[in-house]
Amino acid sequence: MAAGAAVWYARPVTKALPRGVLVAFEGIDGSGKSTQATLLSDWATQHGLETVRTREPTNGPWGMKVRESKVSGRLSPEEELHCFLEDRREHVATLIAPALARGAIVIIDRYYYSTAAYQGARGHDPLALIAKNREFAPKPDVVFLMDFDPKLGVDRINARGAQDTFESLPQLTKSREIFLSLNEPHIVKLDAKKPPAELHESVLFHLLHGPLKDSAKPLHLDEPPEDPKLRTR
Ligand code: TYD
Repeated sequence: MAAGAAVWYARPVTKALPRGVLVAFEGIDGSGKSTQATLLSDWATQHGLETVRTREPTNGPWGMKVRESKVSGRLSPEEELHCFLEDRREHVATLIAPALARGAIVIIDRYYYSTAAYQGARGHDPLALIAKNREFAPKPDVVFLMDFDPKLGVDRINARGAQDTFESLPQLTKSREIFLSLNEPHIVKLDAKKPPAELHESVLFHLLHGPLKDSAKPLHLDEPPEDPKLRTR
């Protein structure tokens, strides 16, 4: 090599996990899902993981259709279920499955447990809904269920002045009951009244002792992230 030639070592921009990890935040509106999803995705990004933060319903055509119905009036239970399933099918095929295959951590705000809780509250069998989703949607590695008193949820929605046909008190009470009735080993129930920082600690604890356990040491996930100010270049 010619003297003085620069040698560049490509440093990976992101660290891939040995296999993708899917984390879902679930709960009724106002339970702080989005705050926790943001805290987790900031943590994962700071640790150099490829982080995909997403939500359902999506902004695709099926998702927009149900979102519009929140204001204009609800679709029939069958039509509504169809929209959520088609929205998820598209979401899995175009975003979730490819990201998991690359070894990303995928953090999703609502997933098929919302279908069980919300469409279940309209008369569908919640467990049959979960089974139907599992035919095409990957099972999350962990689900953080943010449990919250629906009365407080409705107060928050009213305080925002938003009109929302999905979030009436009887509807939310039923949805919460269904959420709480779901007992699967990968569902972690958290008390959403706790301070966000404390909930975030619990989320990290479960991940580092669960789906991220084997990657924690090799990828230095259990150490504080590198301080960007200390980088030499
Ligand atoms: P939106 O305002 O987009 O989201 P969020 O309430 O999470 O901020 O509203 C989505 C609504 O759709 C919410 O009330 C829950 C409901 N929902 C279902 O009924 N079934 C589902 O499968 C999903 C994903 C959401």
